[in-house]
Amino acid sequence: MTSLPLRADAPWLAPLAGYSDLPFRLLCREYGAAVCCTEMISAKGLIHHSPGTQDLLQTLPEDAPLVVQLFGNEADIMIRAMEPLLERGFQWFDLNMGCSVPKVTRTGCGAAMLRDVPNALAVARAMIRTAGEGRVGFKFRLGWDAGAEVWRELAAALEDCGAGWLTLHPRYARQGFGGAAYWPALAELRRHVSVPVIASGDLMTPGDGVRCLAETGVAAVMYARGAMQNPAIFKEHRALLAGARPAAPDRSAVRAMIRRHAALAREYSNERTALFKMRTFVPRYVHHLPGVRLLRQGLAVCHDWTSLDRLLDDFLGHSCNA
Ligand SMILES: Cc1cc2nc3c(=O)[nH]c(=O)nc-3n(C[C@H](O)[C@H](O)[C@H](O)COP(=O)(O)O)c2cc1C
Repeated sequence: MTSLPLRADAPWLAPLAGYSDLPFRLLCREYGAAVCCTEMISAKGLIHHSPGTQDLLQTLPEDAPLVVQLFGNEADIMIRAMEPLLERGFQWFDLNMGCSVPKVTRTGCGAAMLRDVPNALAVARAMIRTAGEGRVGFKFRLGWDAGAEVWRELAAALEDCGAGWLTLHPRYARQGFGGAAYWPALAELRRHVSVPVIASGDLMTPGDGVRCLAETGVAAVMYARGAMQNPAIFKEHRALLAGARPAAPDRSAVRAMIRRHAALAREYSNERTALFKMRTFVPRYVHHLPGVRLLRQGLAVCHDWTSLDRLLDDFLGHSCNA
């Protein structure tokens, strides 16, 4: 049985709704992401063939290892959603128990599952029975709200069920992204269970990732917003661990990275979607540079690739390599 790399020098790309699509995953892999996750996919949407749901499963052989993240809170639906995916060759799965967006939690899914641990475990057991021991990971928060911590009991029970790995974003669901991620909980979790623990939360730079590994002893880190701002974070993470002092990408490296992302987006999605995606990503890639407000205004009226290229060349300067 193959296994997933769960090591300090093998950083993961987090599931990111609206962002971790095939082109972005391929880009992150080129920069050294060891494992990538799809964005969360509705198990119900899969079995009811909801429009757009299948698109979230777009992949390629070089997009491996890939973890398919599902959300859903009914064991039988998870099984029906996963069986065809296994037949198609998907091997790794994750259950979203961390999403705090009301659209998801109102349906009892995502972080709302932390309010009903017995049901969460019934879903977990069904997923592991379907995919096999070690094939399913679980991503969760500390609990629904302060005073309702469930992560310790949940983690121990998930380990007993045969979870392959556990990812903790140490905030409460009610916090959303407010406050700071409480990394000491990651250190405690990895002492509490023997299944590998992956850290998520406030990993904005490679320095954060490496510090989190050192402070908590987790098996691996998962970059989310840090990768959305700088896909080269994976390369920098590996370099930092190897003792180098990686410099943040300069303007010409950022320009080359955006060109590459645009080329991948155009290759694997239609032109309209690709342009829309690039308009969403670009402000994040250049957020640290002066003049970004003006660039945003320009992006809002960018309706073709020529004007996007011109805008970026003006802002970042020309770079010849793709
Ligand atoms: C735009 C966006 C989309 C996200 N989508 C998902 C998702 O689909 N599934 C999931 O488990 N977490 C999702 N998350 C949470 C991240 O995977 C991660 O746990 C969180 O951002 C904390 O890490 P960070 O502080 O390093 O960004 C999302 C976060 C952001 C910012």
